[in-house]
Amino acid sequence: MKNNIQIAIDGPASAGKSTVAKLVAKKLNYVYCDTGAMYRAITFEAMAKNVALDNDDKLVSLLKDTIISFKPANPEQLVYINNLDITQAIRQPEVTNNVSTVAAQEGVRKELVKRQQEIAEDGSIVMDGRDIGTTVLPNAEVKIFLVASVKERALRRFKENQIKGINTTLDVLEFEIAERDRKDSTREISPLIQAKDAILVDTTSMNIDGVVQKIMDIINK
Ligand code: DC
Repeated sequence: MKNNIQIAIDGPASAGKSTVAKLVAKKLNYVYCDTGAMYRAITFEAMAKNVALDNDDKLVSLLKDTIISFKPANPEQLVYINNLDITQAIRQPEVTNNVSTVAAQEGVRKELVKRQQEIAEDGSIVMDGRDIGTTVLPNAEVKIFLVASVKERALRRFKENQIKGINTTLDVLEFEIAERDRKDSTREISPLIQAKDAILVDTTSMNIDGVVQKIMDIINK
């Protein structure tokens, strides 16, 4: 295997992208970049500053003053806006349920895609999101499209939430995930679609280790 490749992992909400991407990055000693966290970060900041979530121009100006950064930490990477740790805050339901609106704004995407390309430019990166294989890193050496049924994804999110003390019912989670899939797949700019050269991996009946192994096999090929 070439040493400093780019690995793009795309797919719908809660398909296991970030869990798997982190583990693959660790195995390869690569940097992991969670692009969803960047869309969540600007959504959080806009909500905190009362900026309308569909006002692209205002969101872009807000982004100009917003440094989004990642810091390695155990058990999970920390996400910062300027000097504020927002790792937990961006996972709260208010952010989760509003992020699709912000992620549909053209100027926001343009700016964040640029930042993501800069992060990935030297390779040795595992980047997860929705449009990594199609738009952010069209030349990535490895492209994976991870999917799982809505039921399975809701159940996974439910278990994660229980650990974090977030109490949303399974039915509501299923509805929210289906709704986010719909918004992410039907938006005009960079909708969630599988890149032509991406390999589809359905994780519905696989455990995490199985998925990581499958992706490592694909990388090594
Ligand atoms: O992966 P996630 O659930 O943290 O992503 C949050 C939202 O950001 C999701 O609704 C879609 C959007 N997103 C995007 O449009 N493009 C990306 N590359 C990553 C996430």
